[in-house]
Amino acid sequence: MSWQHLKSLKFLDLPLDEVDRKVLDELAERLQDNYPYNQQNYAGQMIKPPHTLAQAAYWMSTFVNPNNHALDGGRATSALELEIMASLGKMIGYKQSLGHLTSGGTMANLEALWVARQCQSKATVLASSASHYTHSRMSEVLGMPFKSIATLANGAMDIEDLERVISKVESAVVVVTMGTTGLGKVDPLAEILELQKSYKFRIHIDAAYGGYFKIANLELDTNRHFDLMHKADSVVIDPHKHGLQPYGCGAILLKNPEEGRFYKHDSPYTYFTSGDLHLGEITLECSRPGAASAALWATMQKFPLEQGGTFSQRLNESLLAARGLHMCAESKGYWSLEPELDICIFSNKGKRAGEISQKNRAFFERKAKEGIHLALLKIKKENCPWPLEWDTEELVVVRSVLMKPEHNDAEFWDRLLN
Ligand SMILES: Cc1ncc(COP(=O)(O)O)c(C=O)c1O
Repeated sequence: MSWQHLKSLKFLDLPLDEVDRKVLDELAERLQDNYPYNQQNYAGQMIKPPHTLAQAAYWMSTFVNPNNHALDGGRATSALELEIMASLGKMIGYKQSLGHLTSGGTMANLEALWVARQCQSKATVLASSASHYTHSRMSEVLGMPFKSIATLANGAMDIEDLERVISKVESAVVVVTMGTTGLGKVDPLAEILELQKSYKFRIHIDAAYGGYFKIANLELDTNRHFDLMHKADSVVIDPHKHGLQPYGCGAILLKNPEEGRFYKHDSPYTYFTSGDLHLGEITLECSRPGAASAALWATMQKFPLEQGGTFSQRLNESLLAARGLHMCAESKGYWSLEPELDICIFSNKGKRAGEISQKNRAFFERKAKEGIHLALLKIKKENCPWPLEWDTEELVVVRSVLMKPEHNDAEFWDRLLN
């Protein structure tokens, strides 16, 4: 959004005095100190511009400023949140589920691990070395033991290592990441479910990033895992990643609604206005913006979660963008890993890790100067698919997250890689 565009917001018909307008002018200027997240040229981190409808609905709701903690504070938006959770549950394939929105993926995953611990007090958290750092961190917060499971060279959880570890722990919750933060890799849910025939453990899916790809056109080998999402005990999906929402919107779903009993608490202040469920009764956070559910609900009216619908086609564009960039990178002589979702990594070729990392960093900086914004990723020796000599502990490669439909553009890949 340009400075002029941001500045023009001050002319909206609001009761703003001269001081307010001056402050907003200054804010519009200060907000320019950002990368151009909403442009095609930004293909770095997992940042996707919210849809204008979501922004409008969010803003509209702030004039009421509902709080979805209790029906006392947010009757209308709590009802919207229940509709949203029903749709997300249906997309996953849950027959009946219990869930709510959160401030983001970290909070949603914390709740999922907490519920796992309430179910099995001695559960060890098992997550792959490519899982988001939040899992080991939140295990620490919850006082749960954590073990890291190795990944294969392609970045997915190594099922043999999982079995080796799971056979030794008393009780476990396995975190299955569907869309890892670094590579967008999908852990082998189908094989992990098979292991449940020999060992008893709980499954939590962290689909904060990849969850919406459930309704996209995935390769068969990826799709077979997404088809089984409904078998997991809990799922996390972040609408503020691929769901076109402003930040502050994650979601957790529990397959067994009875697990809502763990949240039971007394509140001397709230829950008086209705005998119906207050979302705060099944949430760890207290106050939550009803505006977040208004924005997501509005977005889902325009973009229902349907296979083949407009929303899923937008996701398909991202899948095609990552595959296209990958092929273009290989054809231009880079190493590149075949993407599973919409994240593509590539690297200059060379002999030694240190020298290649330097080249990749220089490429990243040169591109930023040209106005094309990418990201970097550190890869360890055991996860590196390319033959090289290891004079440093890690290899730094270029990472690109292709979340916007306009990233599916051969001319853009060419500019990005030149
Ligand atoms: C797979 C995964 N899980 C969890 C998180 C944390 O989510 P949030 O940043 O919304 O707290 C992320 C963030 O990138 C993620 O990619």
